[in-house]
Amino acid sequence: MNNGRIIFTVESEIVIRPYHRGDREMVLNIAADTAFFGEPVEKFMEDRRIFLDAFYVYYTDKESEHCWVATHDENVIGFLTGCFDTRIQREYTAKVLEPQTFIRLLGGKYRIGKKFIRYLLRYFSTKLRSPKDDLDLSQYPAHFHINIVKEWRGYGIGRKLIESYLEQLRSAKIGGVHLQTTSYNKVALILYKNMGFELLQSTRSHLWEGHVNEPIYELTYGLKLYTG
Ligand SMILES: CC(C)(COP(=O)(O)OP(=O)(O)OC[C@H]1O[C@@H](n2cnc3c(N)ncnc32)[C@H](O)[C@@H]1OP(=O)(O)O)[C@@H](O)C(=O)NCCC(=O)NCCS
Repeated sequence: MNNGRIIFTVESEIVIRPYHRGDREMVLNIAADTAFFGEPVEKFMEDRRIFLDAFYVYYTDKESEHCWVATHDENVIGFLTGCFDTRIQREYTAKVLEPQTFIRLLGGKYRIGKKFIRYLLRYFSTKLRSPKDDLDLSQYPAHFHINIVKEWRGYGIGRKLIESYLEQLRSAKIGGVHLQTTSYNKVALILYKNMGFELLQSTRSHLWEGHVNEPIYELTYGLKLYTG
């Protein structure tokens, strides 16, 4: 590692480095291209801007100092978006990003279709039926999201992005980190388990019924980092 950078070679050089402002568009594109279990978000909504505005721009615009990217020939091919204090992210999302997105939605700024309406109804009915999230954020305050473009999966990029982020968390003496995934993200589960993450919560989800032919569980994994 060199100034927080990791450089390794697959067919040509891959660089793991902190996020720069110029990466924003590429990161958001990958986020939307991989939102449905590694496939594009258009599987369940017509306009990807809804997903990005309500959810992802927190990481690129408010807490970009905790984001990491993997690049090849200057192009971003994978990212990890991190957050050191989940409470802050949840509050900002609920008080600023979601209302802003909702107002744009009412103002006709997005393309709305059957897929999005179906998703929204299912999202709220799932939310009502789900048990309350009782994850102890004092133990696991940080979290992250990670996605690699399809052609570059399986080359060790995901592991290296997580290692860089964990090192950053440890340097800042953050006590623990969690992440949310599903039983359908098979490779992600292998990676998290191999890296020492423990399963903290598992809840049956009905959100993806009709899209995926197996029962889906929402899973929360955590890793303790610092006991100082
Ligand atoms: C999950 C993801 C981030 C992992 O990144 P990656 O660069 O593909 O993974 P790596 O190459 O670092 O491999 C991770 C581990 O999984 C294993 N692995 C990778 N691909 C595999 C495959 N197809 N089958 C089985 N094991 C596999 C590797 O052996 C490695 O284990 P190790 O490091 O302990 O030896 C990436 O595949 C991805 O973006 N997937 C689609 C979206 C997604 O699921 N995101 C996570 C949402 S929570």
